Amino acid sequence: MQRRFWAILAFTAAAMVGSALAASAWEREPVSVFHERRARLIREAGSDGIVVLFGYDEADVAASITPFRQNEEFYYLTGWNEPGAIMLLTPKAHAPGTAPELGEEILYIPAHDHREEKWTGPKLAPDDSDAPARTGFNTVRNVSKFDADLQTALKSASTIYSEISPQPESGEECFQTQCVNKLHEKAPKAPLDDIRMVIGRMRSVKSPGEIDLIRKAVDASVEAHFAAMKAVKPGVWEYEIAALMKYEFERRGCEWPSYPPIVGSGFYSTVLHYDQDWNQMKDGDVVVMDVAGSYGGYASDITRTLPVNGHFTPRQREIYEIVLGAQNAALAAAKPGMFLGRHGTKGLYEIAYDYINSHGKDMHGQRLGQYFIHGLSHPIGLNVHDPMDYNRALEPGMVITMEPGIYIPDEKIGVRIEDDVLITSDGNELLTRRLPRAVDEIEKQMAGK
Ligand code: GLY
Ligand code: MN
Repeated sequence: MQRRFWAILAFTAAAMVGSALAASAWEREPVSVFHERRARLIREAGSDGIVVLFGYDEADVAASITPFRQNEEFYYLTGWNEPGAIMLLTPKAHAPGTAPELGEEILYIPAHDHREEKWTGPKLAPDDSDAPARTGFNTVRNVSKFDADLQTALKSASTIYSEISPQPESGEECFQTQCVNKLHEKAPKAPLDDIRMVIGRMRSVKSPGEIDLIRKAVDASVEAHFAAMKAVKPGVWEYEIAALMKYEFERRGCEWPSYPPIVGSGFYSTVLHYDQDWNQMKDGDVVVMDVAGSYGGYASDITRTLPVNGHFTPRQREIYEIVLGAQNAALAAAKPGMFLGRHGTKGLYEIAYDYINSHGKDMHGQRLGQYFIHGLSHPIGLNVHDPMDYNRALEPGMVITMEPGIYIPDEKIGVRIEDDVLITSDGNELLTRRLPRAVDEIEKQMAGK
């Protein structure tokens, strides 16, 4: 519904500026925000370099059944979610020792291909009169002009800043190699330098608009979890729950799941990334549901663990409450100055681990720390595992997950509780707070009370 609303709004806006083009259906931040990011990037790159970034081509995502989705760094700096684009930023001339300011910023996009547009819908092209207003770039040029412009820009630049390393976990190695090869081919003498760290630093602290989009992803996904709490029962298939949850967040405007939905019951509650979801849920088992959607390109990431029959056994409850205690301990400490990973008394991971390792025992009388087999937290944003320097302390505006877990395969008990948290100036805000976490609240919700 939301998505249609935005499509209608965008269409009306396009009509108002006299264009027959339908606009992007995605909700995105105002174009001025992306311009500010580009200006900051040039300042922080900190030398006489130019910045060149390539967006994905249709072919880069051709194997995917999801609609086109832009390279994240490119989207972060342009808000442009169409294939075949290139961005060129050049600094103004500036005195040595002073920070460079953004000079020219050019977005290169393909010309109209009216035959293709019969299949894919109307597209914006460089010569359309509303191209600057719609993109936020003063200069929008045909991609065919890029090579010559690059040569001109290099006359007064020492370095090309680009993405030299692939984004972790993106499967992007091939794309990155092709980008680097293209730059070597077009400018064999220009030194290349990686800009990924600078963009990653910027992406770690979210803008108000990004936080707003994450809230929308969270809210839709919370509704999906509420629906699942009513639908989980012995005999229901895991894939039915995954399908129901996708339906619930997508009908609230999410584009797609932020990651393959994980609905694992019984033994599979202990398998971290079990995304086959092909088992039938059995009386007496628990089910881990790690399922959430993305809105406007921004991910949420939420896990709840339920008793399939609506009532935790005493042992399941014991393990569940240890995980919840660990999460609450870490939440109580999550504020600026703390660290996500291992960092002594300032590390949230240690706080959660120490809680788990000092409460309860396994069937052999051993402590439970050994069953907490993954990290406590990661940032979310355009990626469900957003870039982060784990040696950097938390700052207001960071959005992270908080997801302790205990997985005991011998007992067929896996429990993970995962919530999304905004770091504020003096603590944190639990974005997922509407969704029950306590045992009694979950059992009540499952009973439809
Ligand atoms: N929720 C999936 C993950 O964090 O890996
Ligand atoms: Mn997660």
